[in-house]
Amino acid sequence: MSTAELFDAVDVIRTKRDKGRLSDAQIDWVIDAYTRGVVAEEQMSALNMAILLNGMDRPEIARWTAAMIASGERMDFSGLSRPTSDKHSTGGVGDKITLPLAPLVAVFGVAVPQLSGRGLGHTGGTLDKLESIPGWRAALSNAEMLAQLESIGAVICQAGSGLAPADRKLYALRDVTGTVEAIPLIASSIMSKKIAEGTGSLVLDVKVGSGAFMKNIDQATELARTMVDLGTDAGVRTVALLTDMSTPLGLTAGNALEVRESVEVLAGGGPADVVELTVALAREMLAGAGVTGVDPADALVDGRAMDVWKRMIRAQGGDPDAALPWASETELVLAPADGVVVRLDALAVGVAAWRLGAGRARRSDTVQAGAGVVMHAKPGALVRAGEPLMTLHTDTPERFSRAREALLDAVTIAPEGSAPPRTPLILDRIAAG
Ligand code: URA
Repeated sequence: MSTAELFDAVDVIRTKRDKGRLSDAQIDWVIDAYTRGVVAEEQMSALNMAILLNGMDRPEIARWTAAMIASGERMDFSGLSRPTSDKHSTGGVGDKITLPLAPLVAVFGVAVPQLSGRGLGHTGGTLDKLESIPGWRAALSNAEMLAQLESIGAVICQAGSGLAPADRKLYALRDVTGTVEAIPLIASSIMSKKIAEGTGSLVLDVKVGSGAFMKNIDQATELARTMVDLGTDAGVRTVALLTDMSTPLGLTAGNALEVRESVEVLAGGGPADVVELTVALAREMLAGAGVTGVDPADALVDGRAMDVWKRMIRAQGGDPDAALPWASETELVLAPADGVVVRLDALAVGVAAWRLGAGRARRSDTVQAGAGVVMHAKPGALVRAGEPLMTLHTDTPERFSRAREALLDAVTIAPEGSAPPRTPLILDRIAAG
Protein backbone atom coordinates (compact mmCIF):
# COMPACT_ATOMS: atom_id res chain seq x y z
CA MET A 1 0.00 0.00 0.00
CA SER A 2 1.30 3.48 -0.85
CA THR A 3 1.59 5.79 2.16
CA ALA A 4 -0.84 8.17 0.44
CA GLU A 5 -3.69 5.65 0.59
CA LEU A 6 -6.44 6.34 3.17
CA PHE A 7 -7.17 2.72 4.04
CA ASP A 8 -5.72 -0.76 3.86
CA ALA A 9 -7.83 -3.07 1.65
CA VAL A 10 -7.38 -5.91 4.13
CA ASP A 11 -9.01 -3.84 6.90
CA VAL A 12 -11.97 -3.08 4.65
CA ILE A 13 -12.34 -6.80 3.80
CA ARG A 14 -12.11 -7.73 7.50
CA THR A 15 -14.85 -5.23 8.40
CA LYS A 16 -17.30 -6.89 6.03
CA ARG A 17 -16.06 -10.40 6.75
CA ASP A 18 -16.87 -9.78 10.42
CA LYS A 19 -20.37 -8.52 9.52
CA GLY A 20 -19.56 -4.85 10.15
CA ARG A 21 -20.76 -1.76 8.27
CA LEU A 22 -18.47 -0.12 5.77
CA SER A 23 -18.12 3.62 6.39
CA ASP A 24 -18.79 6.12 3.60
CA ALA A 25 -15.07 6.88 3.48
CA GLN A 26 -14.15 3.19 3.21
CA ILE A 27 -16.62 2.70 0.36
CA ASP A 28 -15.49 5.80 -1.56
CA TRP A 29 -11.90 4.73 -1.15
CA VAL A 30 -12.28 1.06 -2.07
CA ILE A 31 -14.22 1.78 -5.29
CA ASP A 32 -11.81 4.50 -6.33
CA ALA A 33 -8.70 2.52 -5.39
CA TYR A 34 -9.99 -0.58 -7.22
CA THR A 35 -10.67 1.50 -10.35
CA ARG A 36 -7.11 2.90 -10.10
CA GLY A 37 -5.70 -0.62 -9.74
CA VAL A 38 -4.48 -0.07 -6.16
CA VAL A 39 -6.90 -2.61 -4.67
CA ALA A 40 -5.96 -5.93 -6.29
CA GLU A 41 -8.43 -8.23 -8.06
CA GLU A 42 -8.05 -10.89 -5.34
CA GLN A 43 -8.80 -8.32 -2.64
CA MET A 44 -11.90 -7.08 -4.43
CA SER A 45 -13.08 -10.65 -4.98
CA ALA A 46 -12.73 -11.33 -1.25
CA LEU A 47 -14.70 -8.18 -0.48
CA ASN A 48 -17.41 -9.11 -3.01
CA MET A 49 -17.75 -12.53 -1.40
CA ALA A 50 -18.00 -10.96 2.07
CA ILE A 51 -20.74 -8.66 0.74
CA LEU A 52 -22.55 -11.61 -0.87
CA LEU A 53 -22.46 -13.53 2.40
CA ASN A 54 -23.05 -10.72 4.91
CA GLY A 55 -24.98 -8.11 2.91
CA MET A 56 -25.01 -4.32 3.06
CA ASP A 57 -27.62 -2.02 4.56
CA ARG A 58 -29.47 0.59 2.47
CA PRO A 59 -27.10 3.51 3.27
CA GLU A 60 -24.11 1.32 2.38
CA ILE A 61 -25.72 0.31 -0.93
CA ALA A 62 -26.57 3.95 -1.72
CA ARG A 63 -22.98 5.02 -1.02
CA TRP A 64 -21.55 2.12 -3.04
CA THR A 65 -23.79 3.16 -5.96
CA ALA A 66 -22.77 6.82 -5.65
CA ALA A 67 -19.09 5.83 -5.61
CA MET A 68 -19.53 3.83 -8.82
CA ILE A 69 -21.33 6.74 -10.49
CA ALA A 70 -18.48 9.05 -9.42
CA SER A 71 -15.96 6.72 -11.11
CA GLY A 72 -17.05 7.99 -14.55
CA GLU A 73 -18.98 10.52 -16.59
CA ARG A 74 -22.67 11.41 -16.39
CA MET A 75 -24.78 11.94 -19.46
CA ASP A 76 -27.15 14.85 -19.83
CA PHE A 77 -30.40 14.64 -21.77
CA SER A 78 -31.76 17.93 -20.46
CA GLY A 79 -31.23 19.60 -23.84
CA LEU A 80 -33.72 17.26 -25.56
CA SER A 81 -37.18 18.55 -26.39
CA ARG A 82 -38.68 15.19 -25.32
CA PRO A 83 -38.92 13.66 -21.82
CA THR A 84 -36.75 10.56 -21.35
CA SER A 85 -37.80 7.13 -20.15
CA ASP A 86 -35.73 3.97 -20.00
CA LYS A 87 -36.30 0.32 -19.19
CA HIS A 88 -33.93 -2.21 -17.69
CA SER A 89 -34.49 -5.94 -17.44
CA THR A 90 -32.49 -8.03 -15.01
CA GLY A 91 -32.18 -10.58 -17.81
CA GLY A 92 -34.06 -13.64 -18.92
CA VAL A 93 -34.42 -16.26 -21.63
CA GLY A 94 -36.13 -15.10 -24.82
CA ASP A 95 -36.30 -11.58 -23.39
CA LYS A 96 -36.43 -9.54 -26.59
CA ILE A 97 -38.81 -6.93 -25.16
CA THR A 98 -36.44 -3.96 -25.62
CA LEU A 99 -36.65 -4.36 -29.41
CA PRO A 100 -40.38 -3.63 -29.84
CA LEU A 101 -40.61 -1.52 -26.67
CA ALA A 102 -38.15 1.28 -27.49
CA PRO A 103 -39.80 2.26 -30.82
CA LEU A 104 -43.27 1.78 -29.33
CA VAL A 105 -42.68 4.29 -26.53
CA ALA A 106 -40.98 6.73 -28.94
CA VAL A 107 -44.21 6.85 -30.99
CA PHE A 108 -45.70 8.96 -28.16
CA GLY A 109 -43.01 11.66 -28.17
CA VAL A 110 -40.83 10.16 -25.43
CA ALA A 111 -37.07 9.71 -25.91
CA VAL A 112 -35.88 6.19 -25.08
CA PRO A 113 -32.11 5.91 -24.54
CA GLN A 114 -31.47 2.17 -24.32
CA LEU A 115 -27.81 1.78 -23.47
CA SER A 116 -27.45 -1.97 -23.72
CA GLY A 117 -24.91 -4.72 -23.33
CA ARG A 118 -23.85 -7.98 -24.86
CA GLY A 119 -24.95 -11.29 -23.42
CA LEU A 120 -22.84 -13.43 -21.13
CA GLY A 121 -23.97 -16.89 -20.08
CA HIS A 122 -27.50 -18.14 -20.69
CA THR A 123 -29.24 -14.76 -21.05
CA GLY A 124 -28.98 -13.08 -24.44
CA GLY A 125 -27.73 -9.54 -25.00
CA THR A 126 -29.79 -6.94 -26.82
CA LEU A 127 -26.81 -5.79 -28.91
CA ASP A 128 -26.08 -9.37 -30.02
CA LYS A 129 -29.67 -9.66 -31.23
CA LEU A 130 -29.61 -6.39 -33.18
CA GLU A 131 -26.22 -7.17 -34.69
CA SER A 132 -27.89 -9.98 -36.64
CA ILE A 133 -29.52 -7.23 -38.77
CA PRO A 134 -27.25 -6.63 -41.80
CA GLY A 135 -25.31 -3.35 -41.45
CA TRP A 136 -26.56 -2.39 -37.98
CA ARG A 137 -23.95 -0.87 -35.69
CA ALA A 138 -24.04 -0.69 -31.90
CA ALA A 139 -21.36 1.96 -31.28
CA LEU A 140 -22.57 5.56 -31.46
CA SER A 141 -20.87 8.72 -30.25
CA ASN A 142 -22.75 10.73 -27.61
CA ALA A 143 -23.54 13.35 -30.28
CA GLU A 144 -24.99 10.71 -32.64
CA MET A 145 -27.05 9.28 -29.84
CA LEU A 146 -28.48 12.65 -28.82
CA ALA A 147 -29.26 13.55 -32.44
CA GLN A 148 -31.11 10.23 -32.95
CA LEU A 149 -33.04 10.67 -29.70
CA GLU A 150 -34.16 14.11 -30.82
CA SER A 151 -35.10 13.13 -34.38
CA ILE A 152 -36.46 9.58 -33.96
CA GLY A 153 -36.92 9.20 -30.23
CA ALA A 154 -35.44 5.71 -29.82
CA VAL A 155 -31.82 4.57 -29.65
CA ILE A 156 -30.56 1.13 -28.70
CA CYS A 157 -26.77 1.30 -28.57
CA GLN A 158 -23.69 0.20 -26.71
CA ALA A 159 -23.12 1.92 -23.37
CA GLY A 160 -19.99 4.05 -23.65
CA SER A 161 -17.00 2.98 -21.56
CA GLY A 162 -17.16 6.26 -19.65
CA LEU A 163 -20.33 5.37 -17.70
CA ALA A 164 -19.57 3.83 -14.28
CA PRO A 165 -16.21 2.28 -15.29
CA ALA A 166 -15.88 0.84 -11.77
CA ASP A 167 -18.92 -1.31 -12.46
CA ARG A 168 -17.48 -2.62 -15.73
CA LYS A 169 -14.40 -3.90 -13.90
CA LEU A 170 -16.35 -5.14 -10.91
CA TYR A 171 -18.98 -6.97 -12.97
CA ALA A 172 -16.30 -8.83 -14.95
CA LEU A 173 -14.71 -9.89 -11.65
CA ARG A 174 -18.04 -10.97 -10.11
CA ASP A 175 -18.75 -13.00 -13.20
CA VAL A 176 -15.71 -15.24 -12.61
CA THR A 177 -15.84 -15.38 -8.81
CA GLY A 178 -19.40 -16.59 -8.15
CA THR A 179 -20.47 -13.21 -6.76
CA VAL A 180 -23.01 -12.00 -9.32
CA GLU A 181 -26.04 -13.05 -7.26
CA ALA A 182 -25.68 -10.55 -4.41
CA ILE A 183 -28.62 -8.14 -4.15
CA PRO A 184 -26.52 -5.13 -3.02
CA LEU A 185 -24.07 -5.70 -5.89
CA ILE A 186 -26.74 -6.25 -8.55
CA ALA A 187 -28.77 -3.23 -7.41
CA SER A 188 -25.77 -0.90 -7.30
CA SER A 189 -24.42 -2.22 -10.62
CA ILE A 190 -27.66 -1.63 -12.51
CA MET A 191 -28.61 1.63 -10.86
CA SER A 192 -25.16 3.24 -11.09
CA LYS A 193 -25.34 2.90 -14.88
CA LYS A 194 -28.96 4.08 -15.11
CA ILE A 195 -28.44 7.09 -12.84
CA ALA A 196 -25.19 8.04 -14.65
CA GLU A 197 -27.04 7.74 -17.96
CA GLY A 198 -29.34 10.54 -16.80
CA THR A 199 -32.79 9.22 -17.74
CA GLY A 200 -35.72 11.11 -16.21
CA SER A 201 -37.77 7.99 -15.54
CA LEU A 202 -36.99 4.29 -15.38
CA VAL A 203 -39.00 1.08 -15.45
CA LEU A 204 -37.30 -2.02 -14.08
CA ASP A 205 -38.34 -5.48 -15.24
CA VAL A 206 -37.17 -7.72 -12.41
CA LYS A 207 -37.32 -11.34 -13.55
CA VAL A 208 -38.27 -14.14 -11.16
CA GLY A 209 -37.79 -17.85 -11.78
CA SER A 210 -35.38 -20.49 -13.01
CA GLY A 211 -34.10 -18.41 -15.95
CA ALA A 212 -33.43 -15.33 -13.77
CA PHE A 213 -30.86 -14.29 -11.15
CA MET A 214 -33.67 -14.11 -8.62
CA LYS A 215 -35.17 -17.57 -8.24
CA ASN A 216 -38.00 -16.61 -5.87
CA ILE A 217 -40.40 -13.73 -5.35
CA ASP A 218 -38.98 -12.68 -1.97
CA GLN A 219 -35.48 -12.15 -3.37
CA ALA A 220 -36.90 -10.38 -6.44
CA THR A 221 -39.03 -8.10 -4.26
CA GLU A 222 -36.00 -7.16 -2.19
CA LEU A 223 -33.95 -6.42 -5.31
CA ALA A 224 -36.78 -4.38 -6.85
CA ARG A 225 -37.39 -2.38 -3.67
CA THR A 226 -33.66 -1.66 -3.32
CA MET A 227 -33.40 -0.42 -6.92
CA VAL A 228 -36.62 1.63 -6.78
CA ASP A 229 -35.35 3.38 -3.62
CA LEU A 230 -31.93 4.04 -5.16
CA GLY A 231 -33.51 5.54 -8.28
CA THR A 232 -36.07 7.59 -6.38
CA ASP A 233 -33.44 9.00 -4.01
CA ALA A 234 -31.37 10.02 -7.06
CA GLY A 235 -34.32 11.92 -8.56
CA VAL A 236 -35.22 9.30 -11.20
CA ARG A 237 -38.94 8.37 -11.27
CA THR A 238 -38.52 4.61 -10.85
CA VAL A 239 -40.98 1.75 -10.79
CA ALA A 240 -40.43 -2.02 -11.03
CA LEU A 241 -42.54 -4.85 -12.41
CA LEU A 242 -41.76 -8.35 -11.15
CA THR A 243 -42.30 -10.73 -14.06
CA ASP A 244 -42.25 -14.48 -14.46
CA MET A 245 -39.12 -16.10 -15.89
CA SER A 246 -39.83 -19.73 -15.03
CA THR A 247 -40.53 -20.34 -18.73
CA PRO A 248 -38.98 -18.47 -21.70
CA LEU A 249 -40.67 -15.37 -23.10
CA GLY A 250 -42.19 -15.97 -26.51
CA LEU A 251 -41.32 -18.86 -28.79
CA THR A 252 -37.68 -18.09 -29.60
CA ALA A 253 -34.32 -17.84 -27.81
CA GLY A 254 -31.40 -16.78 -30.01
CA ASN A 255 -30.31 -13.63 -31.77
CA ALA A 256 -31.84 -13.44 -35.30
CA LEU A 257 -34.68 -15.73 -34.16
CA GLU A 258 -35.65 -13.16 -31.53
CA VAL A 259 -35.38 -10.23 -33.95
CA ARG A 260 -37.86 -12.03 -36.26
CA GLU A 261 -40.28 -12.51 -33.37
CA SER A 262 -39.91 -8.84 -32.33
CA VAL A 263 -40.72 -7.73 -35.87
CA GLU A 264 -43.87 -9.90 -35.73
CA VAL A 265 -44.89 -8.01 -32.57
CA LEU A 266 -44.20 -4.67 -34.30
CA ALA A 267 -46.40 -5.88 -37.17
CA GLY A 268 -49.32 -6.35 -34.75
CA GLY A 269 -48.86 -10.11 -34.23
CA GLY A 270 -46.39 -12.20 -32.23
CA PRO A 271 -46.78 -14.36 -29.11
CA ALA A 272 -49.31 -13.13 -26.54
CA ASP A 273 -46.82 -13.03 -23.63
CA VAL A 274 -44.35 -10.87 -25.55
CA VAL A 275 -47.14 -8.46 -26.55
CA GLU A 276 -48.55 -8.35 -23.00
CA LEU A 277 -45.22 -7.49 -21.41
CA THR A 278 -44.25 -4.99 -24.12
CA VAL A 279 -47.53 -3.11 -23.68
CA ALA A 280 -47.40 -3.25 -19.85
CA LEU A 281 -43.86 -1.86 -19.77
CA ALA A 282 -44.74 0.78 -22.38
CA ARG A 283 -47.65 1.97 -20.20
CA GLU A 284 -45.31 2.33 -17.22
CA MET A 285 -42.67 4.15 -19.26
CA LEU A 286 -45.22 6.56 -20.70
CA ALA A 287 -46.71 7.24 -17.26
CA GLY A 288 -43.19 7.88 -15.89
CA ALA A 289 -42.62 10.39 -18.68
CA GLY A 290 -45.93 12.12 -17.94
CA VAL A 291 -47.75 10.89 -21.08
CA THR A 292 -51.32 9.89 -20.30
CA GLY A 293 -54.53 9.17 -22.19
CA VAL A 294 -52.92 6.98 -24.89
CA ASP A 295 -52.97 3.23 -25.45
CA PRO A 296 -49.63 1.86 -26.67
CA ALA A 297 -51.33 -1.35 -27.85
CA ASP A 298 -52.89 0.66 -30.71
CA ALA A 299 -49.48 1.68 -32.06
CA LEU A 300 -48.43 -1.97 -32.47
CA VAL A 301 -51.54 -2.71 -34.50
CA ASP A 302 -51.62 0.38 -36.72
CA GLY A 303 -47.97 0.34 -37.82
CA ARG A 304 -46.72 3.45 -35.99
CA ALA A 305 -44.28 1.44 -33.84
CA MET A 306 -43.02 -0.40 -36.94
CA ASP A 307 -42.33 2.94 -38.66
CA VAL A 308 -40.18 4.11 -35.74
CA TRP A 309 -38.41 0.71 -35.64
CA LYS A 310 -37.43 1.00 -39.31
CA ARG A 311 -36.19 4.56 -38.87
CA MET A 312 -34.24 3.54 -35.75
CA ILE A 313 -32.57 0.60 -37.50
CA ARG A 314 -31.74 2.65 -40.64
CA ALA A 315 -30.27 5.49 -38.54
CA GLN A 316 -27.71 2.98 -37.20
CA GLY A 317 -26.76 1.65 -40.63
CA GLY A 318 -29.06 -1.39 -40.62
CA ASP A 319 -31.45 -2.52 -43.33
CA PRO A 320 -34.76 -3.33 -41.61
CA ASP A 321 -36.07 -5.04 -44.76
CA ALA A 322 -33.03 -7.29 -45.34
CA ALA A 323 -33.36 -11.04 -44.84
CA LEU A 324 -32.11 -12.12 -41.40
CA PRO A 325 -29.59 -14.95 -41.16
CA TRP A 326 -30.65 -18.55 -40.52
CA ALA A 327 -28.38 -21.21 -39.04
CA SER A 328 -27.23 -23.82 -41.53
CA GLU A 329 -28.26 -26.89 -39.44
CA THR A 330 -31.40 -27.79 -37.50
CA GLU A 331 -32.54 -30.72 -35.35
CA LEU A 332 -35.91 -31.45 -33.76
CA VAL A 333 -36.60 -32.30 -30.11
CA LEU A 334 -39.66 -34.57 -30.07
CA ALA A 335 -42.36 -35.11 -27.44
CA PRO A 336 -41.70 -38.39 -25.60
CA ALA A 337 -45.41 -38.94 -24.74
CA ASP A 338 -48.96 -37.74 -25.36
CA GLY A 339 -50.29 -35.14 -22.95
CA VAL A 340 -50.18 -31.50 -21.85
CA VAL A 341 -46.97 -29.52 -21.46
CA VAL A 342 -47.09 -28.32 -17.85
CA ARG A 343 -43.50 -27.05 -17.55
CA LEU A 344 -40.91 -25.70 -19.99
CA ASP A 345 -37.88 -24.62 -18.01
CA ALA A 346 -36.39 -21.23 -18.89
CA LEU A 347 -32.88 -21.98 -17.65
CA ALA A 348 -32.64 -25.22 -19.63
CA VAL A 349 -33.74 -23.50 -22.85
CA GLY A 350 -31.34 -20.62 -22.20
CA VAL A 351 -28.42 -22.97 -21.65
CA ALA A 352 -29.34 -24.94 -24.80
CA ALA A 353 -29.47 -21.75 -26.92
CA TRP A 354 -26.14 -20.68 -25.46
CA ARG A 355 -24.53 -24.06 -26.20
CA LEU A 356 -25.87 -23.92 -29.77
CA GLY A 357 -23.80 -20.75 -30.25
CA ALA A 358 -26.28 -17.95 -29.46
CA GLY A 359 -24.35 -16.88 -26.36
CA ARG A 360 -20.79 -16.57 -25.17
CA ALA A 361 -18.85 -18.10 -22.30
CA ARG A 362 -16.14 -15.40 -22.33
CA ARG A 363 -16.53 -11.75 -23.22
CA SER A 364 -14.17 -12.22 -26.19
CA ASP A 365 -16.25 -15.04 -27.80
CA THR A 366 -18.27 -14.33 -30.93
CA VAL A 367 -21.91 -15.37 -31.22
CA GLN A 368 -23.74 -17.05 -34.09
CA ALA A 369 -26.51 -14.85 -35.46
CA GLY A 370 -28.76 -17.76 -36.46
CA ALA A 371 -28.23 -20.11 -33.50
CA GLY A 372 -30.89 -20.79 -30.90
CA VAL A 373 -34.08 -22.61 -29.99
CA VAL A 374 -37.57 -22.31 -31.49
CA MET A 375 -40.26 -23.62 -29.15
CA HIS A 376 -43.35 -25.23 -30.65
CA ALA A 377 -45.17 -26.11 -27.42
CA LYS A 378 -45.31 -23.79 -24.41
CA PRO A 379 -47.01 -24.71 -21.08
CA GLY A 380 -50.69 -25.48 -21.72
CA ALA A 381 -50.14 -26.97 -25.19
CA LEU A 382 -51.48 -30.44 -26.00
CA VAL A 383 -48.87 -32.66 -27.69
CA ARG A 384 -48.73 -36.15 -29.19
CA ALA A 385 -45.71 -38.46 -28.81
CA GLY A 386 -43.27 -37.82 -31.66
CA GLU A 387 -44.47 -34.28 -32.41
CA PRO A 388 -41.82 -31.53 -32.37
CA LEU A 389 -41.42 -29.69 -29.07
CA MET A 390 -38.50 -27.55 -30.22
CA THR A 391 -36.21 -26.96 -33.19
CA LEU A 392 -32.52 -26.44 -32.42
CA HIS A 393 -30.57 -24.15 -34.78
CA THR A 394 -26.78 -23.89 -35.17
CA ASP A 395 -24.02 -23.48 -37.76
CA THR A 396 -21.88 -26.01 -35.86
CA PRO A 397 -23.71 -29.37 -35.62
CA GLU A 398 -21.22 -30.78 -33.10
CA ARG A 399 -23.01 -28.54 -30.60
CA PHE A 400 -26.33 -30.41 -30.84
CA SER A 401 -25.47 -33.11 -28.29
CA ARG A 402 -24.51 -30.68 -25.50
CA ALA A 403 -27.64 -28.62 -26.20
CA ARG A 404 -29.77 -31.79 -25.98
CA GLU A 405 -28.13 -32.62 -22.64
CA ALA A 406 -29.27 -29.25 -21.30
CA LEU A 407 -32.81 -30.04 -22.41
CA LEU A 408 -33.03 -33.55 -20.89
CA ASP A 409 -35.24 -32.39 -18.01
CA ALA A 410 -36.56 -29.19 -19.60
CA VAL A 411 -40.11 -30.29 -20.34
CA THR A 412 -42.77 -31.97 -18.18
CA ILE A 413 -45.69 -33.58 -19.98
CA ALA A 414 -48.68 -34.55 -17.82
CA PRO A 415 -51.68 -36.68 -18.78
CA GLU A 416 -54.32 -35.03 -20.93
CA GLY A 417 -56.75 -33.01 -18.79
CA SER A 418 -53.94 -31.70 -16.52
CA ALA A 419 -53.33 -27.98 -16.38
CA PRO A 420 -50.01 -26.15 -15.90
CA PRO A 421 -49.76 -24.04 -12.73
CA ARG A 422 -51.43 -20.69 -13.45
CA THR A 423 -48.62 -18.18 -13.02
CA PRO A 424 -49.43 -14.66 -14.17
CA LEU A 425 -46.75 -13.04 -16.33
CA ILE A 426 -46.75 -9.89 -14.21
CA LEU A 427 -46.38 -10.92 -10.60
CA ASP A 428 -46.15 -7.59 -8.78
CA ARG A 429 -45.48 -3.87 -9.11
CA ILE A 430 -43.15 -1.98 -6.78
CA ALA A 431 -43.34 1.81 -6.75
CA ALA A 432 -41.68 4.54 -4.70
CA GLY A 433 -42.91 5.06 -1.17
N1 URA B 1 -26.93 -6.62 -14.80
C1 URA B 1 -26.03 -5.69 -14.42
O1 URA B 1 -25.81 -4.70 -15.10
N2 URA B 1 -25.39 -5.90 -13.27
C2 URA B 1 -25.59 -6.96 -12.48
O2 URA B 1 -24.98 -7.06 -11.44
C3 URA B 1 -26.52 -7.92 -12.89
C4 URA B 1 -27.19 -7.72 -14.07
